[in-house]
Amino acid sequence: MASKNVKMLDMDRPEREDTYLKWQETQRIPILKGFFVEDINKVEVAPWELKGGLGSFVNLDGAGEVNDAYVCEIPPGGKLKTQKHLYEEMVFIAKGHGATTVWQREGKRHTFEWHPGSLFAIPLNAWYQHFNGSGTESVRYFSVTNARFIINLFHNMDFIFENDFAFTDRFDPNDENYFSRVGKLHSRFFMSTNFVPDTHDIQLMDYRERGQSTNMKFDLAGQTMAAHISEFPVETYKKAHRHGPGAHVIILGGQGYSLLWPEGQQRTRVDWKPGCVMVPPTQWFHQHFNSGAKTARYLALRWGSWRYRFMRLAAEMGSTYTSVKEGGGQIEYQDEDPEIHREFESALDKVGATCGMGSAHPFCSK
Ligand SMILES: [Fe+2]
Repeated sequence: MASKNVKMLDMDRPEREDTYLKWQETQRIPILKGFFVEDINKVEVAPWELKGGLGSFVNLDGAGEVNDAYVCEIPPGGKLKTQKHLYEEMVFIAKGHGATTVWQREGKRHTFEWHPGSLFAIPLNAWYQHFNGSGTESVRYFSVTNARFIINLFHNMDFIFENDFAFTDRFDPNDENYFSRVGKLHSRFFMSTNFVPDTHDIQLMDYRERGQSTNMKFDLAGQTMAAHISEFPVETYKKAHRHGPGAHVIILGGQGYSLLWPEGQQRTRVDWKPGCVMVPPTQWFHQHFNSGAKTARYLALRWGSWRYRFMRLAAEMGSTYTSVKEGGGQIEYQDEDPEIHREFESALDKVGATCGMGSAHPFCSK
């Protein structure tokens, strides 16, 4: 007997639970949403009991519900509460000076100092505490975590926050130099490290596959999440590329703009300067332009550790430095919409600068 094709109405579907969002509501701090953040130093924060400081969640559209971010402020002379959790977290210091102490359930306490531009990861489920080292200046940091993914996966908050398992494979409490060791470089620009003292001045390596740029990709504290830093010269721009959701791009230096678009559709422009954060939505092409007077540098906190394979969809569908014509995720200069180059040249004209792409770009008229 032929079955009757019955279309299920939305009203018939039982309500789904989003454990992360429910938890987020219990925190009673602002939840910033949107396409990008103009300046993380200006995000409004409110007292956050869990942390013992002030905070705001940052849930940008492009995170695609696979990861999240938050801003946290530590008042002058203050410290946050001790905590641990079963999700990964990368911390970028936006403002202020201080220190963090990290330890396993038993074992030696490791303390390291940081300042604006420092980057580190909290080893998974390790205990930690952040301290403001100044009596007059507040600290502000920006964290990207995979709480959204992990909390919804287990949907049990006790398991996330009250779990005693010590991941000594990721963080051995007897490793004296865990946070002070110089990063170990693998191949051209892949680095294993647990602490980057200054993202503004760490040396980067040639990454000409993406245009005239340099890069360093970090494996931090054995996480599946990852970070990289990229820099590109004045009056140039990088090639467009696309990949999965959740790459939080934080502008460290320079001034310019980015174009973001889903294939074959209209481009969205984000003008940026230091402190801006944007997250390209999943499989949207994105392209970064330096139209300012200084070298542009950014930090991306994202999925896609070069060391620990995780999920293809969350990172990239193909090599992000191979042409889309060959199955990758990158648009070569000769294949881009000529309007993109015209827009860049006119942006430079307005500030009395000249396009520096020269022979690197087939459409360059300068
Ligand atoms: Fe990207």
